[in-house]
Amino acid sequence: MNTGGMQKDRGTGFPPSFLWGVAVASYQVEGGNLWSDWWEWERTPGHIKDASRNTIGCDFWNRYPYYLDLAKEIGLNAFRLSIEWGRVNPEKDRWSDEALTRYREIILACRERGMEPMVTLWHFTVPQWVSREGGWTNPETVDWFLAYVDKTVEALGDNVRFWITLNEPTIVLSSGYKTGVWPPGRKKDIVGFRQSRKNLIFCHCETFSRIKKKTPEAQVGIAVNITYNEPYRPWFPPDRALVFLANIQGDYAFLKRMQSHLDFIGLNYYFHNRLAFVFQPDTSFSAVKNENKIVSDFGWEVYPAGIAKVSWDLWQRFRKPIYITENGVADANMNDKLRSDFIRQHLLYLSRSIAQGVDVRGYFYWSLMDNFEWAEGFSYRSGLYAMDYEKQIAVPRQSSVETYRRIIAEHRISHGNLK
Ligand code: FCB
Repeated sequence: MNTGGMQKDRGTGFPPSFLWGVAVASYQVEGGNLWSDWWEWERTPGHIKDASRNTIGCDFWNRYPYYLDLAKEIGLNAFRLSIEWGRVNPEKDRWSDEALTRYREIILACRERGMEPMVTLWHFTVPQWVSREGGWTNPETVDWFLAYVDKTVEALGDNVRFWITLNEPTIVLSSGYKTGVWPPGRKKDIVGFRQSRKNLIFCHCETFSRIKKKTPEAQVGIAVNITYNEPYRPWFPPDRALVFLANIQGDYAFLKRMQSHLDFIGLNYYFHNRLAFVFQPDTSFSAVKNENKIVSDFGWEVYPAGIAKVSWDLWQRFRKPIYITENGVADANMNDKLRSDFIRQHLLYLSRSIAQGVDVRGYFYWSLMDNFEWAEGFSYRSGLYAMDYEKQIAVPRQSSVETYRRIIAEHRISHGNLK
């Protein structure tokens, strides 16, 4: 059993060097990212469900000390954030040293508060100039992205020990090139999908090699979103076949292509799906039949056991350390029992996986505060802190903040914090 050299606590404990964090992403929290493709995308009617516009949003760009103080109060020892490519490289051949200096300050501000920064280089957005040149379908985008990586790693690398190259590339590929609900808004563009996929895989591998060459001690991984798929009728072979297909088409296949270029796997776990075969030749032959006993504000089924199933599966397949780089739930309620139960239950299952020998080394709740949720706009509320955007204040959702703080302080799931 490989525990990565870490000692484990009893049954429901976590390894001593476990990272406790929250995750945010630049476009979703910074505000003012007018050079990014999403900025234009949002401004086209119909693209964002609640018709909100991300102008300053949480204004993390200017008010990061305020938010990092809130994170510190929870007792976190890690903080996941991302760098906005469009800020660093707003126009072709124009680089913003000012933006890089600010990111350096943010990273140092994490360190000053005792939080290990985990830095993502690409969390969904590309600069508008890249998008005008064809975005990920254009092979030149690979060179442009790698130039951005070089600049960023040069400027920030001495203070970053954990890098994530790409966040959820397969989600962007399907939303951008299959369903078209995200930029670049192409529907059923199989050619675009394949080209972009190839370019993203190459970018991941090359970014890994470049960072390792420059700072061999850095840990470099990718963040993938893996659904726990189950057959609706386990005895029915077509349902089982759907699960098999969903798994091989999704991130497992993606990871397989890059497994020699990974120090760790970042797992974003949100979902569980029971898949049922249905006869509908015009679509995918697949229907989701969840029990939906407990759901988030957006109807997503809460299924804590899935975090253990997927972690186990990832560990069996790849034998790489795992960080839960995102896990969270949308619930606008200030009396947030759903969220505090969610955190407790997911961490309970995770601690059991660790006890079974799965090498999980950290957990990052999505998110510190409510923020801009892509096509859902600002209505999706997943924060440990509720945002009052007008007053620009973040108000604690007491029950969740307390629950997470207590688990972190105790470093285990005790009888008390299971109540
Ligand atoms: C994940 C994304 C993150 C956020 C959460 C709710 O898929 O990585 O940016 O949108 O979902």
